Amino acid sequence: MDFKEEIQKRRTFGIISHPDAGKTTLTEKLLLFGGAIQEAGAVKNNKIKKSATSDFMEIERQRGISVATSVLAFIYKDKKINILDTPGHKDFAEDTFRTLTAVDSVIVVIDVAKGVEEQTEKLVEVCRMRNIPMIVFINKLDREGKDAFDLLDEVEQKLNLNVTPLSFPIGMGYDFKGIYNIYEKNINLFSGDSKKNIEETIAFDDISNPELDKIIGETAANDLRDNLELTQGVYPKFDTEKYLTGELQPVFFGSALNNFGVRELLDCFIEIAPSPRPKMAEERLVKADEKELTGFVFKIHANMDPKHRDRLAFVKIVSGTFERNKPYLHVRHDKKVKFSSPNAFFAEKKEIVDISYPGDIVGLHDTGNFKIGDTLTEGESLHYKGIPSFSPEHFRYINNADPMKAKQLYKGIDQLMDEGVAQLFTLEMNGRKVIGTVGALQYEVIQYRLEHEYGAKCTYENFAVHKACWVEPTDKNNEEFKEFKRVKQKFLAKDKLGQLVFLADSQFSLQMTQQKYPTVKLHFTSEYK
Ligand code: G4P
Repeated sequence: MDFKEEIQKRRTFGIISHPDAGKTTLTEKLLLFGGAIQEAGAVKNNKIKKSATSDFMEIERQRGISVATSVLAFIYKDKKINILDTPGHKDFAEDTFRTLTAVDSVIVVIDVAKGVEEQTEKLVEVCRMRNIPMIVFINKLDREGKDAFDLLDEVEQKLNLNVTPLSFPIGMGYDFKGIYNIYEKNINLFSGDSKKNIEETIAFDDISNPELDKIIGETAANDLRDNLELTQGVYPKFDTEKYLTGELQPVFFGSALNNFGVRELLDCFIEIAPSPRPKMAEERLVKADEKELTGFVFKIHANMDPKHRDRLAFVKIVSGTFERNKPYLHVRHDKKVKFSSPNAFFAEKKEIVDISYPGDIVGLHDTGNFKIGDTLTEGESLHYKGIPSFSPEHFRYINNADPMKAKQLYKGIDQLMDEGVAQLFTLEMNGRKVIGTVGALQYEVIQYRLEHEYGAKCTYENFAVHKACWVEPTDKNNEEFKEFKRVKQKFLAKDKLGQLVFLADSQFSLQMTQQKYPTVKLHFTSEYK
């Protein structure tokens, strides 16, 4: 198979949802279709139990599983499908944001009863900003939930999307009869038998056909006719181009647990979802079918064995092929490196591979040379954009609790920050170190890992910060900027890349600062240029 065909074959995507909407269940059913796993229950639940805040065994267990499920790959109808796992727990939202820089499309799972939930809103916003093509799957139709039209409205309004249903439910919950597939023009009857792998569908090109009444009953048939007429009047016709540019999102209904409506979703997905898309680097747009390799690190995972401080860096291949033992340029270090055992991912295993293609993810063993966002090329000085840091929600001073182990502590902090566990800020005034995180859970993870992997002990002290803002002066030499730096000295810090950050202690002080120093721009993400 030639290079271009390999690219066309690949579909690399993420499933996003609020916890409990059914992401794990859907992933598992997709893998079943690909024949990648034999039975239900094989995909481990990559979730942190609600009681896990101080349960370190749970944290370790979760880290172990998250390596195993980081990338799940399978072949379906001759397409190579790579599912990138996105943690649902909100304390790990940063991880998910970063993973979204490596996907070419996403499937959004929504619970029919709960509708659009908080975590879904945040994740979809990130996808919308990047024009990532999205398919919506409304799950748990076997349960009572919201009316289909109300839900479609809710998705449009809360998620700011422009939807069009490609399937439509017939009844719901106790009365759930099945689904009309608008895309394929057929009916799939619900039997509630989750073991059924292949669903039989009945073709209905024309739903006015009286056969429909015989199959689902007169009332349900008339309701379906009315509903479909309404959808035609209200929603735009599906258009693949618009889906690909992020202007239109098709919606499917089903029940992942019952493996119902999943085949329709998958069949449509492989047909319409994009193969690896071009990616913007600081220097230029890179197309997947360019011959030379380019790729970037979007995730780093520490090895589970604390004795070997070895990590796995996950690289998304954007263009060219990645070959074993071939030297590549580590752009940030300006050094050639080669890898004797790059890993590729299959269902739940990883294996050494000789060659990987755009859209694939390779796992590289790393002893501390990689940071999230690093780019690999065949010699070109290229920097991939698109992994911004957002303002953390929590801030604490980190103190060294064992003076004999200062070196270990700083090394540990450094490496954990490279992994993207949290963000480090160093105060301009006194050099004190502040750790910013999305959730409180990370502080415990950091403390535990510093002790177990680096032999260092730390304590924390609260530091009241409302928001971290990245500072961009219009002119570094103007008086206003100088005054800003003088007056706000106590609140200024450098992030890990040496960028200036203003740590506003309240919304009020943030607003006052913006008013008083209009030429000093304050940004809410690190990547504002
Ligand atoms: P998540 O990864 O998005 O967090 O969700 P997950 O798949 O773990 O699903 C959350 C719960 O919803 C699970 O139940 C799962 O069985 C259930 N579920 C998923 N899809 C459907 C569906 O189509 N219909 C119904 N009725 N339930 C569904 P649980 O009791 O929390 O977990 P478990 O004990 O079954 O694993």
